[in-house]
Amino acid sequence: MPMLQVKDLTKQFGGLTAVSKVSFSVNEGEVLGLIGPNGAGKTTCFNMIAGAMNPTKGQIEFEGQRIDGLQAHQISQKGIARTFQIVKPLRNLSVFDNVMIAALSKSKDISQAREIAQEVIDFTGIHDLAKKGAGELSIGNLKRLEVARALATLPRLLLLDEPMGGLNGKEVDQAIELILKINKSGKTVVIIEHIMKALMQVSDRIVVLAQGEKIAEGTPEAISKNEAVITAYLGEEYHAQS
Ligand SMILES: Nc1ncnc2c1ncn2[C@@H]1O[C@H](COP(=O)(O)OP(=O)(O)OP(=O)(O)O)[C@@H](O)[C@H]1O
Ligand SMILES: [Mg+2]
Repeated sequence: MPMLQVKDLTKQFGGLTAVSKVSFSVNEGEVLGLIGPNGAGKTTCFNMIAGAMNPTKGQIEFEGQRIDGLQAHQISQKGIARTFQIVKPLRNLSVFDNVMIAALSKSKDISQAREIAQEVIDFTGIHDLAKKGAGELSIGNLKRLEVARALATLPRLLLLDEPMGGLNGKEVDQAIELILKINKSGKTVVIIEHIMKALMQVSDRIVVLAQGEKIAEGTPEAISKNEAVITAYLGEEYHAQS
């Protein structure tokens, strides 16, 4: 049984069908890449899986239970965490407090939340920044903090929405390392990312959306050669490079 299964997932905003009958599954332990052009419906899929919005139609099952229609906090309790494409730290608080507040959702008391926060901060490599105000961080470290806040809720499934957006080459390499480390620590990951070289490196399998529909699914190698994907998204330039 897959860990996560979405079936015929559909989201309409007025007359716009942002996600149209999309089905895919995520197996425990894998990294699944979710790609496609701007406006393809990727973030909207995350919003529905994480409970930020209800699907118009379709089903979402996590570990054998229906979760569509549940509230975001209920889905978090079940073991799914997500990061936001546009990072949302509490800018006036320290890095440590940002992570600790996230940890409180799964802790029995403040001291346990502190322990979890410290572990996650060490794990994500932002230890030296713990006392800094979140508002002072570079985009690379803000993206890392965003991941740390998600990990602090102790998810089994982590949804990453463009964790490398705006990063420089070195920061992208560090982000790849972190995602692989998270996966090795036993967490299942779904990642949306436009930086193809990085996405291909971390993903076991890739699902491609275009204009709300799933147009392909396969290994990174197969996806990079798929004509429909090249036409809709990757472009001839990518084809030539690979
Ligand atoms: N809350 C909303 N209300 C109305 N329309 C929305 C809403 N959220 C998304 N949309 C629309 O749904 C479509 C899909 O948007 P979505 O954000 O899911 O795309 P995306 O694949 O994540 O794109 P990007 O790569 O640019 O982040 C777009 O046309 C977008 O304008
Ligand atoms: Mg998006």
